[in-house]
Order: sequence, then C-alpha cells, then structure tokens
Amino acid sequence: MTDLHAAVARAVDALRAGELVAFPTETVYGLGADAASVDAVGRLYEVKGRPADHPVIVHIAHAAQLDELARDVPGEARLLAEAFWPGPLTIVLRRDLGRVVPEVTGERDTVGLRVPDHPIALELLEAFGGGVAAPSANRFGRVSPTTAAHVRADLGMDVRVVLDGGPCRVGVESTIVDVTSREPAILRIGGVSRGEVEAVVGRACASRTSGETAAPGTFESHYAPRTDVELAELVAVADRARSLIARNLRIGLLAAAPVPADLPESLVVLAAPSDADDYARVLYARLREADELELDRLLVVVPPASDGLAAAVADRVRRAAHTRRT
Ligand code: TXA
Ligand code: MG
Repeated sequence: MTDLHAAVARAVDALRAGELVAFPTETVYGLGADAASVDAVGRLYEVKGRPADHPVIVHIAHAAQLDELARDVPGEARLLAEAFWPGPLTIVLRRDLGRVVPEVTGERDTVGLRVPDHPIALELLEAFGGGVAAPSANRFGRVSPTTAAHVRADLGMDVRVVLDGGPCRVGVESTIVDVTSREPAILRIGGVSRGEVEAVVGRACASRTSGETAAPGTFESHYAPRTDVELAELVAVADRARSLIARNLRIGLLAAAPVPADLPESLVVLAAPSDADDYARVLYARLREADELELDRLLVVVPPASDGLAAAVADRVRRAAHTRRT
C-alpha cells in the first residue's frame, strides 16, 4: 500500500471514530465529518467556528446515493448530477430525515449534496461509504484553502489527518443550485457556470444567496483575507494606488498580466495569470499572500466576468471587498 492509500485508510478510521479529516477536492480543501453523527458534526462546527444555523455540504461518492440522503428528488436534479458529477456542483434537495443529522443543515429540511472530482476525495468517500459533511477547511469567514499547507496554517492541531492532494485544480468553491422550489435557483456561482446549469435544466435559473435564509448578515462578509480588499478598474488603478500610497499605506495590486506600465514603484504587484480559469486557481493563494505581506490594502482588478470562472472570481472578490473598513 502506498503512503497515500494508507493515509486515506487512517482518514476513514478517523471519520468512523467521529473525528475530523481534511481532504482535497477539485475546488478547495474540505474539513470532513461523518454526516450521520451528531457528535462529529458538533465537533466540526466547533473547530470551524461556524454559527450553528449555517448549513454544511454533504459529500458522497456516487450519484446513486442521492436517494439515500435526499427525498422527492426532482428530474432536474438527476440531470444536473448526470451532467456535472463528479464535479464542482452542489445540489440542494429535500433532506432524508434518517441519514443526515439535522445539525448538518442548520435544522433545515434541505441538504446540499456533491460528488467531488478528485481521486483522493473519491477514494475516501468510497471507502467510508456514508455522507461526509464538509465545509471548506478554513476558520469561518476566512479564505478557503487550496493547498494542504493552507489547511495546516488555518486549523493546525485541530485536525489530525490532512490528506495532501496538491493544489486544487479549480480554486474556487462549487456552484450551488437549489432545486427544492418551483424554479431552480443558483445560490452561489462557482466551478460550473450559470450557462452550463441552464443548458442542462433547459430554463433560466433564479439567483438567491443562501445567506438570505442561512445566516443573515454574515454571508456577504465571506471569503475575506485580513487585508482590506478594494475593487479597482484597470484604467484607474495607477492613480488610485498613488493616492493611497500618498497616505502612507502599504498597497498591493492583484490583476491579470499584463499590468499597466505606469504603476508607482512601491506598489506590491501580485500578478495573476491572464486566463480567467488560471486566475481562479491562484486567487485564494494570492489573497493569503496579501496577508503575509501585511499589506494595508489590496487593489483587485477582476477578469471581465460574463460567466464561467471569471464570474466566480468577481463574486468572491466583491464579497471580500464588502468587509473593508475604510
Ligand atoms: O466547493 C465546495 O463547495 C467546498 C468543497 C469542500 O466541497 N465546500 C464549501 O463548503 O464551500 P462551505 O461550507 O464553505 O460552503 C457551503 C455553502 C454555504 O454558504 C451554505 O450556506 C451553503 O453551501 N449550503 C449548504 N447546504 C445548504 C442548504 N441545505 N441550503 C442552502 N444552502 C446550503
Ligand atoms: Mg467556506
């Protein structure tokens, strides 16, 4: 048995013992607990520092488990599962009251389900057999981890097993689609685009944030580094940087290459790749870098967002900017 398989086996034992394990997915790293154990889920919320009314996604190995964990599964959910699983899509369904403890979903009668597209996650889920409740493996309200090192930096000794699958391929969280109402609603844009979802269900989807019902007031402030984030337009960024630097602030810039030539010298440039998918992949690592560099503010130019991962990047940066103090 290779080291990795042995580590997965240890992680399965830990899950069965009600402990927490961190594992890679294609989007971000997850912090997993047995979704059928009240104690394990309680520990998960405690370590994560998450309000009890904020629901957690349940990860499964196969679409065939849909009917074990959810009930009244509509045809549109099956189409979505077939089209995108394994992959970066979470489907919110009516919860089967037996298999997922109500603590997982903040006492809601719905549950978010996802089959992640990562060999280590799938090996873990397959071997464990049941649903694994897993939010992103960061403390509540902070930037999601996209490497095992990020997980260790955030959660340290609070998580015994961290499965290392290298950097996440997508880099931003899954798209969440709620199919429990008459009209499907996108609650969070992520690894699957709105256009792709709408093509599969064959109609337009509404937009809602899960924060409207989940945790009023807290959802907007998600995904934020400690550094203040300010959205900027590429054409205006040099002037904006100069005026902030004149106030003696340490300023950084995150923008796709090529950046303007006339930037002030003391501006710390964290260049992002010009391709939107590559930008998404590095976004959270760059936000963490801004914290490590102890910048006072990070100016962020987002890729033009029509749909796809550019829209997810714009969404996360807008949320990060929402908490800015000045
Ligand atoms: O890509 C992802 O989705 C990652 C990886 C680990 O799978 N997970 C993730 O989980 O981002 P978390 O807990 O950080 O974000 C889950 C979001 C929350 O905003 C929560 O409100 C929403 O999913 N959610 C989960 N279950 C829900 C439900 N039953 N109804 C509405 N929203 C739900
Ligand atoms: Mg999260």
